[in-house]
Amino acid sequence: MRIYQAKDYNEMSRKAANIISAQIIMKPDAVLGLATGSTPIGTYKQLIDWYNKGDLDFADIRSVNLDEYKGLPADNDQSYAYFMRNNLFDHVNIKKENTYIPNGLETDTELECSRYNHIIRSLGGIDLQLLGIGNNGHIGFNEPGEAFEKETHCVKLTENTIQANARFFENIDYVPKYAYSTGIKNIMQAKSILLVASGKSKADALYKALFGPITPAVPASILQLHNNVSIVADEDALSLIKENQCI
Ligand code: F6R
Repeated sequence: MRIYQAKDYNEMSRKAANIISAQIIMKPDAVLGLATGSTPIGTYKQLIDWYNKGDLDFADIRSVNLDEYKGLPADNDQSYAYFMRNNLFDHVNIKKENTYIPNGLETDTELECSRYNHIIRSLGGIDLQLLGIGNNGHIGFNEPGEAFEKETHCVKLTENTIQANARFFENIDYVPKYAYSTGIKNIMQAKSILLVASGKSKADALYKALFGPITPAVPASILQLHNNVSIVADEDALSLIKENQCI
């Protein structure tokens, strides 16, 4: 595991974008596993900037997103499909038909999960998986629990996650209670993983994930078992790790 330290959010975003652009340049038809949330927005902005300067080409890139709220249509401005169009897809030359996100409107959970697992497999797996981390240690919507969920599944969101995401909705009652998420096995099968973290609110989760016991109570702790993980985090997110002299 490599830990790249950044002084602030902007530097974190630039360093993370560097790793993603290296992947795109090395393999122009790479399969990128993408994340939503506030943390990767700066990374996507930087990629768009390099695309506009002619340094990056997304023409053959394929992407699979980690998750989507269940019950939200793709044109709802809080859906992750909308987020991806708004923050990346509409600004680069990725082909829309090469971008995959779970279908939040599919009510047949089993059907949607197996359809999505099949997509990931048929693309040949994920080359680079981008992850954020929840302040409870979740990755994707794999919430703390008794066991590591393997593949795409439907999740009942925890109170903690609903509260953390309420800032994006008119009020907390509008936050969906369920989501589709790829599982720990889908994530761990990615050839490489890039986790981004920024801010003091992530310090505890990041410390436990990287240096605590490997346990489903901290889903991100499983990343300790992956042989190609890069962490790009700012000083605030790394504060507990530094305080405990782990780096
Ligand atoms: C989003 C996702 C989530 C977020 C996490 C952190 O697709 O999978 O696991 O990465 O909730 O969110 P932010 O970046 O908003 O703190």
